[in-house]
Amino acid sequence: MDSRRTAARLIVPLSYQPSVASATAYAPVNIALIKYWGKRTIPLHLPLTDSFSITIDAGTTTTVTQSTLSDTVSLNGTPLDPSSPFYLRLTTFLDLVRPHPAFRFAITTQNDIPTAAGLASSASGFAALVLALNRFFSWNLSTQQLSCLARLGSGSACRSIQAGFSHWKRGTRADGLDSYAEKVPAEWPELAFGILLLSSKQKTIGSSDAMRRTVDTSPLFPLWASCVERDLEQLLKSLEGNDFDLFGRTIEQNALTMHATMHASWPPIVYWQPETLSALHAIFKARADGLPLYATMDAGPNVKLFFQKNHTEEVVKLFLDIQLTKLTLH
Ligand code: DP6
Repeated sequence: MDSRRTAARLIVPLSYQPSVASATAYAPVNIALIKYWGKRTIPLHLPLTDSFSITIDAGTTTTVTQSTLSDTVSLNGTPLDPSSPFYLRLTTFLDLVRPHPAFRFAITTQNDIPTAAGLASSASGFAALVLALNRFFSWNLSTQQLSCLARLGSGSACRSIQAGFSHWKRGTRADGLDSYAEKVPAEWPELAFGILLLSSKQKTIGSSDAMRRTVDTSPLFPLWASCVERDLEQLLKSLEGNDFDLFGRTIEQNALTMHATMHASWPPIVYWQPETLSALHAIFKARADGLPLYATMDAGPNVKLFFQKNHTEEVVKLFLDIQLTKLTLH
């Protein structure tokens, strides 16, 4: 048995069967404020550092039923070809939780993420799948167990089990049972968010491979863990007092540090396109002119902006194409 299947079996009950004909669940997209970049155990998606995120008002709804001959996956109304990467990724995850080897699933999944928003749907996708499976089999798993199980699909999925601010503690156990995300209660009704869709160019390297290359080859990677520790401390402090400048500075510096670390890998990993850099310079200039506006970027060329609601008009004037998206704090 591989380590992922062993880990899944530590989480789900030993014996189970469907308790309903079908089960549906929703999970939100999460935006990393302090990034997860680098694994200590690759197959279990166990991170080397903690990370921290906030969910937005967009996500994935997934329905699970039993199928007869083979697994079927429908994504946004279109049946997926069994050789497509998403089908394979999903069914490999389903292998971890089949009640018996011949059990087959029918999965219907719908993303309500703004079209081509450049937001990864794998985190909300695996979280919604795990929540639906929990209902389908009546596992009655705790939030922590659900988070651990979602992590086996994709690391960042563990932060999409609950809405709001989420702190993924890296944990130290070899089986990963102490590596899950916990909700952090914080009030910040003024916080606002928007996405700049800057390029639809295909990514040259996926985040799992990019993380591995960064850990293996970037001379800056040894510094990453201490940067995360400092940033996490600062971020928690900023949430306590709704200190927006501390919040913004912390998340932007964390994102730039992650990118600098991957830029120094070999071969280099540069997700930025010319439009990314132009947007960053526009943000730096706006800030120099007095607008409190900060950016974060993930494994892609698009830029995500944080600001406070009272500055929405100025932000929209600066970036006419911004996709404003509500944050979900509860
Ligand atoms: C840059 O969770 O997609 O978005 O665990 O290999 O599936 P795997 O990686 P994934 O990585 C997300 C990386 C990131 C930062 C983050 O979300 O924290």
